[in-house]
Amino acid sequence: MKILVTGGTGYIGSHTVVELQQSGYEVVIVDNLANSYENVVDNIEKISGKRPLFECFDLTDESKTLDFFKRHNDLKGIIHFAAFKAVGESVEKPLMYYHNNLGSLINLLKGMEQSGVKNIVFSSSCTVYGQPDELPVTEQAPIKEAWSPYGHTKQISEKVIQNFSQTFPANAILLRYFNPIGAHESALIGELPIGVPNNLVPFITQTAIGKRRMLKVFGDDYNTPDGTAVRDYIHVVDLAKAHVVAVNRMIEGNNKQQVEIFNLGTGNGFSVLDVIKSFEKVSETKLNYEIVDRRPGDVEKVWADTKFANDELGWKAEKSLDDMMLSAWNWELALGK
Ligand code: UFG
Repeated sequence: MKILVTGGTGYIGSHTVVELQQSGYEVVIVDNLANSYENVVDNIEKISGKRPLFECFDLTDESKTLDFFKRHNDLKGIIHFAAFKAVGESVEKPLMYYHNNLGSLINLLKGMEQSGVKNIVFSSSCTVYGQPDELPVTEQAPIKEAWSPYGHTKQISEKVIQNFSQTFPANAILLRYFNPIGAHESALIGELPIGVPNNLVPFITQTAIGKRRMLKVFGDDYNTPDGTAVRDYIHVVDLAKAHVVAVNRMIEGNNKQQVEIFNLGTGNGFSVLDVIKSFEKVSETKLNYEIVDRRPGDVEKVWADTKFANDELGWKAEKSLDDMMLSAWNWELALGK
């Protein structure tokens, strides 16, 4: 059974490819390598013992995308990760974000229509909730005005898929990720930020290894137990496993609605200082950090209500914050070698 994974050489994509292969799926990756490297395919093969098919092209190219669907007319489903994802960059370059994230999705849906592929899993984000009024946040919480063009592309993409499913009998599962961190236990795949990392965990590990001088903690005056912002961090391998469950669910016809939405988090909120403490413990290193002003656009606190995903998907995140930080550190050490 063949699954198309777009963005399959990227961070979450590569971990998902491994989990799919280990569950018996054949995988074809499409990635334009805009934010990833081709040798990820080799490392996936080292972990799973199976080499995924790989095609390098840009999904915003309609004719190449439709041609792909003609050549691969046996797909059982699609997992669509390929997208730009840097919040700050999206504010600087909104057209680039709308063109890429929406254009690629539209071409994929056209491909589904043309070739009759019926199942799609879409990478959405907890960013669609903004700062929720109630915590933990459930899938029913209102969608708030997004704070960035990146966030808007996730909201609009969810809508595009919902509208599409009203005209074409496609099943879709929209997965709203909280904060994915960590790396595969083999330390062969992980997060590979290009340039200065925006996200907390790669910044921590790069500071500890000496690539960065000091971590800036953005704000300690939030209304949280220690004053720093709180997020629901989830191990990327736990997240990857949820994609296999989601795609199985549709292939086996166990989905209860044509379009279903699930939060993917652990349900636990940790502050920036909690994350630093966990890192210092598992790595046995002291982290150089200072408290600075809040980062514009950051929400104060958000964590998931995971009941719906746990009950309906029969999936639960298993790894602890320490597991996440240790795997992130081992990955940074492996990169250093
Ligand atoms: N943080 C720091 N210092 C840093 C980087 C981050 O203190 O150098 C803090 C942030 O202020 C925030 C927390 O660490 O409180 C987590 O920040 P990340 O940048 O790692 O993650 P975000 O929660 O900002 O972003 C994540 C995803 C985005 C998504 C967003 C929605 O990475 O793709 O959630 O809120 F859009």
